[in-house]
Amino acid sequence: MAFHHKDLLGIRDLSVAEITTILDTAETFKRVSSHSIKKAPSLRGRTVINLFFEPSTRTRTSFEIAAKRLSADAINISASTSSLSKGESLADTARNLEAMLPDVIVIRHSSAGAPHQLARICRTPVINAGDGAHEHPTQALLDALTIREHKGQIEGLEVAIIGDIAHSRVARSNVHLLTKLGANVRVAGPPTLIPQGFERLAEGRIGNVSVTSIEEALKGADVVMMLRVQLEREASAYFPSLREYSCFYGLTVKRLELAKSDVIVLHPGPVNRGVEVASDIVDGPYSVIYEQVTNGVAVRMAVLYLITGGSVINVQQELAGA
Ligand code: CP
Repeated sequence: MAFHHKDLLGIRDLSVAEITTILDTAETFKRVSSHSIKKAPSLRGRTVINLFFEPSTRTRTSFEIAAKRLSADAINISASTSSLSKGESLADTARNLEAMLPDVIVIRHSSAGAPHQLARICRTPVINAGDGAHEHPTQALLDALTIREHKGQIEGLEVAIIGDIAHSRVARSNVHLLTKLGANVRVAGPPTLIPQGFERLAEGRIGNVSVTSIEEALKGADVVMMLRVQLEREASAYFPSLREYSCFYGLTVKRLELAKSDVIVLHPGPVNRGVEVASDIVDGPYSVIYEQVTNGVAVRMAVLYLITGGSVINVQQELAGA
């Protein structure tokens, strides 16, 4: 199955079949990263522009590595070193970049909807690498790949998402994806950081969303996803102190005992060690945090490949010939 969207703006727009295609393609591309020569010819001659208006370590680097592993040229632009700092608008920046005939534009922006604006202006495919508190689709896809690798399937899993839900694009994209694929999502965190009506994000899906206490969320969970307290978005104004946050909502080894014995712990990063999650969990046996990062490269290879017209059958042929 090919991918029929011009852009990847959010998980909300994707069908179960499209999500499965991306995950299956990512699994195939993981093989490229395990070779001593980490290169496939799939995007030879193509150009990928990474346009980042917010800081990023994992997403920006993995998009660049993904493009290069597929033999594309990758160009990184940050707001501070571009003419955006001289007052050029996002729309004019987009028009000028498109005039250089790139094949894909990847954008991260602090404003929800900025990638959608770019996608309306440009004929070039646009990938959302995180927009405000709205969506971060490739993060949810790499989380799903990691969960699928450990649990075999998403359907029927009990997934706890805990922390700063209000500011989290990761939570929104994951709720869309996990409930589409049939998981039940329990959400917990300080009441001031859980938007009213969050349960309704799953309306009409196979899985459901419930808002509960951290203990109820953890009880019998197959998967625990901890979210970063987004201090740069002033999240600390919503609770008395980081110490109290850690005391009431931080994941400790003791609290994790409420979950299933084969639970896995995810975190999108960057981690505030000792705030939302104890350091011994980050580095401990239940953590799959660095596997998430590895899978980020494979998922972004898959998305770049599919959005430029590749299909699953072709990727297998190309790898066989690589
Ligand atoms: N998970 C994530 O988006 O990390 P970065 O901000 O480092 O890209």
